[in-house]
Amino acid sequence: MRLIWTTDLHLDHTAELDRLRWIQSIASQPADGVIITGDISEGDDVIAQLRHLENSLSVPIFFVLGNHDFYHSSIGTTRQRVVHAARESGNLHYLTDTGAIALGNEPLVTLVGEDGWGDASEGNYEDSPIELKDFHLIEDFQRTDSSTWKQQLNRLGAEATARLQVKLESISPAVRQVIIATHVPPFCEACWYEGKTTDENWAPFFVCGQLGKMLLSHTVRHPHQQFTVLCGHTHHGGTAKMSENLIVRTGAASFGFPKIEGTIEASSDGVSLERH
Ligand SMILES: [Fe+2]
Ligand SMILES: [Fe+2]
Repeated sequence: MRLIWTTDLHLDHTAELDRLRWIQSIASQPADGVIITGDISEGDDVIAQLRHLENSLSVPIFFVLGNHDFYHSSIGTTRQRVVHAARESGNLHYLTDTGAIALGNEPLVTLVGEDGWGDASEGNYEDSPIELKDFHLIEDFQRTDSSTWKQQLNRLGAEATARLQVKLESISPAVRQVIIATHVPPFCEACWYEGKTTDENWAPFFVCGQLGKMLLSHTVRHPHQQFTVLCGHTHHGGTAKMSENLIVRTGAASFGFPKIEGTIEASSDGVSLERH
């Protein structure tokens, strides 16, 4: 199984020619599928972009949404619209809405996913000077008092964690390799910026800590399975080996210039990534 991984496309910031070049670069690769780990565009454009992709590529597109995908809309409305679009499509698979997916003719390799959220469970939310655009561009935060934001972030992380846990628990013990696609790094150790990991100020918004804690506990209880997390959000790449059977790969990105992050070869023997 050969998969193309790409992340943080921000296609609303991308010139038409660069967008077409990027799609062409994916279409020209021999692959069985594409994985997108969020920030595809913004809420008013994300479905149009997904449909363009679906019409341009002949392979399944597995994706999650990132925080930017909810801009100028609400989280619930955007998810509902994307769920609807993906369910009526043949090749779009919104992983937040699907269970575990066996990959092609490799029944021992399974893909699951969740949007995830910077859930304010890591770092120092109270003293952080960071105020993401999310709070002003996503209706859930826009229309609520700032005193409720931390609670909302916690809740979004908890909901993503609970959904992902159910999916992971449903995977047959016979499965050897589990690929997890999510937008936000689940650990501070996987939250890269210029070769270093996050500090106390950024961690509340750039780490989905509850999801990370669940993953650590789940992977310890399933030592015969290997878990590979693919994530984005920081726009800086890196790899964090969290335990013998849990590795987190964070993808790089630059606004306006979507690229292929890497090619994944997946079989029951292993999941390897060649970064482009
Ligand atoms: Fe992004
Ligand atoms: Fe993001």
